[in-house]
This record gives sequence, structure tokens and C-alpha cells, in this order.
Amino acid sequence: MRGRHIFEAIEKSDKFPKMPKELSDIVNMIQVPEETDIDELADRIKNVVDLESMIMDFINSEFFKAPKKVTSLKEAIIFLGMNTMQVIILAQIVNCLFPKEDPESCTYQKICYLKHTVGTAVAATALSEWLGEESRSDKYELFAYGVLHDIGVVLYEVCLPEMVDKVQDIIIRGNHPVVAERIAFGGIDHTDIGAWFCRKLNFPPNIVDIIENHHWPKKSTNINKIMYIISVADYISHLYYRDFLIKKKVEKPIKIYMPPNPLNIPHEVIDEILCRLPGLVDETLRLFKRF
Ligand SMILES: [Fe+2]
Ligand SMILES: [Fe+2]
Repeated sequence: MRGRHIFEAIEKSDKFPKMPKELSDIVNMIQVPEETDIDELADRIKNVVDLESMIMDFINSEFFKAPKKVTSLKEAIIFLGMNTMQVIILAQIVNCLFPKEDPESCTYQKICYLKHTVGTAVAATALSEWLGEESRSDKYELFAYGVLHDIGVVLYEVCLPEMVDKVQDIIIRGNHPVVAERIAFGGIDHTDIGAWFCRKLNFPPNIVDIIENHHWPKKSTNINKIMYIISVADYISHLYYRDFLIKKKVEKPIKIYMPPNPLNIPHEVIDEILCRLPGLVDETLRLFKRF
């Protein structure tokens, strides 16, 4: 399979997630956060089974150490603002499209993927603390982006599982995972697949942009602080989970390159977060009741 044919193969798979109308209506409502009718949004979210409780469980997680429990969607919107709620709601909609699997039946690769995304989310929030972000929304937004950023990997694992082993075999010959994907998929990788999927779901451009450019922030036409934080967080999480992402013995060690760092995050800070990462990830998975 080459390049663009991958998209056709993914879409033809019987595992390709179908977006129910009630979810696509919500996506359409939150395109421009400041224009969203909050009452109507709250009603629509209530009408989707489990969506409201998933959003509230996320916001009220002990991880965020919020000063008080948020008891309604409208309260959550006042507490965090619609820009942050947009990212949280979309992350939970993606969760609805890819339901959680029983941990007992999860493959080694799925557990590694989960740890890498949670590692990225946790590292991003740690970086924002170091940067001294003032807005309380940042932590929630960065966490949601961390969980979402590699959605392209989930999509090809679900729809084209046979390609996973192919990519792994190219990685163990000493190639970076993104290079391995490009070789296996004929010139595209998980960032192209994730962005294509999010465009199909009509996700707003700010979300697609992070998914498409998290490995190359300078390619984005809308470079922003979130993009750089997610990009460095992804690098930190890759450093720790590099060996876990592949289940076979690596012939040559894989070099993971530091992305652009215009926020001037010192190496000592990156090393310090890296040291804490395994403990933080295990604790976070426990707080979010995953494993
Ligand atoms: Fe990635
Ligand atoms: Fe990643």
C-alpha cells in the first residue's frame, strides 16, 4: 500500500469508527468556542450516553487538584472557559469512538501507546508548571492534547492491524518510529493519518494543527506555545517509552531528536521531568482508573 491509498484502506475497514449524528452535531456546535450556545451545548451533551459523565470525571480527576468539585457542564464552562472545554469535549468524543478495552485483554503495544500518551500529557502539564502558566485552564487543555496527539496511531492500529508489525520490524532495524511509518505507508505517517481523520470528523483547525504538526511545530502556520509544549512533552515521553514501544530486540539504538525549543526549556528541567515520568504516569493511570 502506498501513500494516499492508506487513507482509502483505513476508510474501507469495517473497524473504521462511524461518527453518530448526535456527536457530529456537538462537534459542529463548538467550532468557534466564543459563538457556542452554552445551554444548547449542555443539552446536547446530556443526550449522549455517558458523554457528560466522561467529561465531568475528567475535569474532577484528582490529577488536576481543583479547589472544588465541578457539578455541572455549565459550571465547568464558567470554570475553564469554552476554549479549554472545546479540547476536553473533543478528546472525550474520540474516547466514545474508540471505546476503552478491558485491561486484561490489552496488547503490549496498546499499553505502551496508552503510557506514551499519558506520559506526554503529564510531561506537558509539568512543563507548563515550570513555565509558570497563570491560567488554570492550561493544565486541562494540555492534558487533553497530550491524550489526543497520536490519534493517528490508534486509527491505523484499529483499522490496519497488520501494518503495526510491519512498522515495528522497520523500527527494530534502527529507524525512528515516524521514519518507519513513512517507509511502511509509502510517504505518510501517523500525523498525516491523525490529521486526515480529524478533518473528516470536522474537528476545528486548532486541534488538527496540533495533531498534524506535533513532530514539526515549525511546519505549522499557527505556531503557538501549546504546540511547542506538546512537542517537547512528546519528546520527553518518547525518551522514556522508546524501549517500550517495541517488543522485539532493537538491532541499533533509536536516536530521538530534541524538537525546536523556543521556550528555552533547560535540559536539567527535561531531565528532571524524565526521572519523575514513570512514577507520574503510573499514578495518573490510577487516578484516571486506567489499570
Ligand atoms: Fe506522534
Ligand atoms: Fe507521541
